[in-house]
Amino acid sequence: MCGIVGFTGNVPADKILIDGLKKLEYRGYDSAGVALAYPGRLDVIRRTGKVAVLEEALSNDEHASCCGIGHTRWATHGRPSETNAHPHIDCHGNIAIVHNGIIENFVALRDELIAEGHTFRSQTDTEVVAHLLERYYEGDLVAAMRKATQQLQGAYGIAAVCVDAPDQIVVTRKDSPIVIGMSDGDVKGSFIGSDMIALLEYTRDAIFLDDGQIALLRPNSIEVFDRSGKTVEPTWTHVDWDAENAEHAGYPDFMLKEIYEQPRAVRDTIAGCVKNGEVILDELTLDDEDIAAIDSVYIIGCGTSYHAGLVARELIEGWARIPTTVDVASEFRYRNPIVTPSTLVIAISQSGETADTLAAVRLARSKGAKVFAVTNVVGSRITRESDGAFYVKANMEISVAATKSFLAQIACLSLIAMFLAQKKHRLTSNQVASLYSDLCETPSQIEAILENQNEIEEAAELISKAHSAMYVGRGIGATICKEGALKLKEISYLHAEAYAAGELKHGPIALLDENVPVVAVVTDSPTRMQTLSNVQEALARGSHIVAVATEGDTEVSEIADYVLYIPRTRDWCSAITASVPLQLLARHVALKRGCDVDHPRNLAKSVTVE
Ligand code: G6P
Repeated sequence: MCGIVGFTGNVPADKILIDGLKKLEYRGYDSAGVALAYPGRLDVIRRTGKVAVLEEALSNDEHASCCGIGHTRWATHGRPSETNAHPHIDCHGNIAIVHNGIIENFVALRDELIAEGHTFRSQTDTEVVAHLLERYYEGDLVAAMRKATQQLQGAYGIAAVCVDAPDQIVVTRKDSPIVIGMSDGDVKGSFIGSDMIALLEYTRDAIFLDDGQIALLRPNSIEVFDRSGKTVEPTWTHVDWDAENAEHAGYPDFMLKEIYEQPRAVRDTIAGCVKNGEVILDELTLDDEDIAAIDSVYIIGCGTSYHAGLVARELIEGWARIPTTVDVASEFRYRNPIVTPSTLVIAISQSGETADTLAAVRLARSKGAKVFAVTNVVGSRITRESDGAFYVKANMEISVAATKSFLAQIACLSLIAMFLAQKKHRLTSNQVASLYSDLCETPSQIEAILENQNEIEEAAELISKAHSAMYVGRGIGATICKEGALKLKEISYLHAEAYAAGELKHGPIALLDENVPVVAVVTDSPTRMQTLSNVQEALARGSHIVAVATEGDTEVSEIADYVLYIPRTRDWCSAITASVPLQLLARHVALKRGCDVDHPRNLAKSVTVE
């Protein structure tokens, strides 16, 4: 992993590859490289560190090649170094490849290839692919790719170039995304990316390659072949994202920009989904009989998406009264979960590509359950392997720390909960209309929070000096705390724990003193009083308190050092609104600690390996 780009066309490829790699920087990486193809020669340039360092290295020479591939690497096998950076080449430098994913059987393959006389230069799993292509190449790179991939176990998106056909790129994939497009503007040619964002400047129509397919790109054509080598007609998908969305648009970082885009993300996601008290979710392709048969719901996701699932459980159980289990996908996939044909499975994934979630989807379907995806990315793998998909309308999310996609997921999941409750005759049309009208208020409430951020800076100053922070809340508030603590960990590298407030006294209270501030979500909820008592317990241990509370709550302001107010709202809607001050808090703390909020260390935006 982590990012792949490629271009073959009418202009020199180096600049296009560098631009593409810059667009993929948000995904996290530690080194970068390109291979430029010429008749009889490949130029491979690789650098550790930022793409800008690679750009600088490229600027030392003229590069006339109009065909090349590029990569940003996030180290899995072998430390970050120039030798381990992609592209990797075969023994004679005739074939260069870039790879996302992990080749699980690389040790056995490498031993075999070394025994055959191949010389390896890196510590990566990837390099075996270059040597396998060399082993099978007899003048046809597509055929060699087909034979090479038959030997591979694991996940891969691979792009290759060869000196014999220096205007061609061959790509393939398994469990790791590859997107292909064409442009006939000023820049004419064929493009590849591991992410649509790399192509957006040139086209919004793309082929999302399927597992096992191999594509041959020339400047004026794209051919796609299936596993057996037969030509197949590719499916083109139109992606409704703006290239401008990938720009900072005056904001200092993408995270802040995306926090400010949240009102729009929620509005767009829920627009028109309830009419006359009827929830309209055409994506949930279940008839009345199917819905009547549903006796349980299983929700799976990772990271922030898992937290959206925890909110959804409260809503589905609360409104539809269907027993609901939420699990992290990496655990679900290895247990023997109780999933039957009458279980409705909801897979939540912003990217739609997370390997653990994808494996969980496959497991759930193998048990006969219907699986519906909640995702932000059209054409993504998880959507294509599910029975249906709800697209949240967050638009492209670039910051690694998910913000707008999380709020949009909650909005979408609340509609699913209303839908199930209505179909199960647990909510009347009037009740649905009233819930929807509360939901429709949340975008303007977020706007109000964004307009009035007093005390966040001061609260951030307090937390930035601590060595750990404890987040506590109850019910929806407990989940909001989990997400708030995750945001803090992800971008400020400060340790944080999130606990159900009532659990504090059963252990974690031992951690509290004046150096461990408590962030408490004490919004208007049926358990507000109990949470307040828990805050008192923390105060008594000397902790400083940062509270998220409802405007006008003087009881909270009397005991908290700082209060981050949100407008009065229904308890369940606070899942959306109360998250916003905690996102801003995490960002301020990160900035005060000198962290790069958009590129948190060790993290990747979408994790396509196990
Ligand atoms: C990675 C990211 C997290 C994200 C998680 C799930 O770990 O760093 O921020 O929440 O993946 O991603 P998904 O695309 O499946 O929602």
